[in-house]
Amino acid sequence: MKISIIGTGRVGSSTAFALINAAVADEIVLYDLNKEMAEGEALDLLHATTFHKRMIIRAGEYSDIEGSDIVIITAGAAQKPGETRLDLTIKNAKIIKGISENIKKYAPNTLVINITNPVDVMSYVVWKVTGFDHNRVIGTGTILDTGRLRALIGKNCGVSPMSVHAYIIGEHGDSELAAWSSAMIGGVPIKGFCRNCPYKNSCNIDLNKIFEDVKNSAYNIINKKGATNYGIASATTALVESIIKNEGRVYTPSVLLDDIYIGYPAVINKDGVERTIDITLNEEETEKFESSKSIIKEYLESIKN
Ligand code: 2OP
Repeated sequence: MKISIIGTGRVGSSTAFALINAAVADEIVLYDLNKEMAEGEALDLLHATTFHKRMIIRAGEYSDIEGSDIVIITAGAAQKPGETRLDLTIKNAKIIKGISENIKKYAPNTLVINITNPVDVMSYVVWKVTGFDHNRVIGTGTILDTGRLRALIGKNCGVSPMSVHAYIIGEHGDSELAAWSSAMIGGVPIKGFCRNCPYKNSCNIDLNKIFEDVKNSAYNIINKKGATNYGIASATTALVESIIKNEGRVYTPSVLLDDIYIGYPAVINKDGVERTIDITLNEEETEKFESSKSIIKEYLESIKN
């Protein structure tokens, strides 16, 4: 299994480290404009492989991505404090276009996972420029947001996040929404779960506050440490595992829907996106989802002109 990572900054190097810990690859190629950095990361990460799985890990040129099973794109400008993900659109569209042309040239049969923000708009650019089938161009979408939601619900409700089934869908950004009407804990609709909860009299959970905390997570983390990297690296590794093991896990990656890319529940297998799952949304959630679609469409128009 060969995986190439384009961009070896904090996200790219953390993703490589998460992949080593998951022991899912036989070879990892690191590409960055900054060759010294890519070589330094490759050396440091090679030493980590000793404690996990023997694998080849090396810095390379675009030509070295040839034969990759998966290419992960992390390169581009990252949000600075006060910036939204969508503020990066024009700048990163140019970068992603160049990267996509090289992927099309050197790894025409690869599956692509795009992390670069705004992830929905950039994933659409990868799809258009590579010309690959949409099922093998996947954005990380709201996988991390859904993970953040499940972690906070689990923490507040005293259950494992693994037993929380709740989705964040839409733009990976300010217009995302929580699909509360289909949220469940242990197979019980979340609203009903509270009725039978032994802590209900002392519970002060505010689902809206949990959602706001999820939506603003990246801003809070970026204000404190300058970037987010471990959460997105683990989310990406989970996506890679479902592909490599052909597990059919359901995540909310950024997928092609109504001629845009947007975060939506999808079954992930060896070929990438096998299919999307149409979840039931109530009227308010449907309106919010349509609004999120419109915002992504506006930003797509801004780079088409
Ligand atoms: C995140 O949500 C910045 O999109 C990145 O962590």
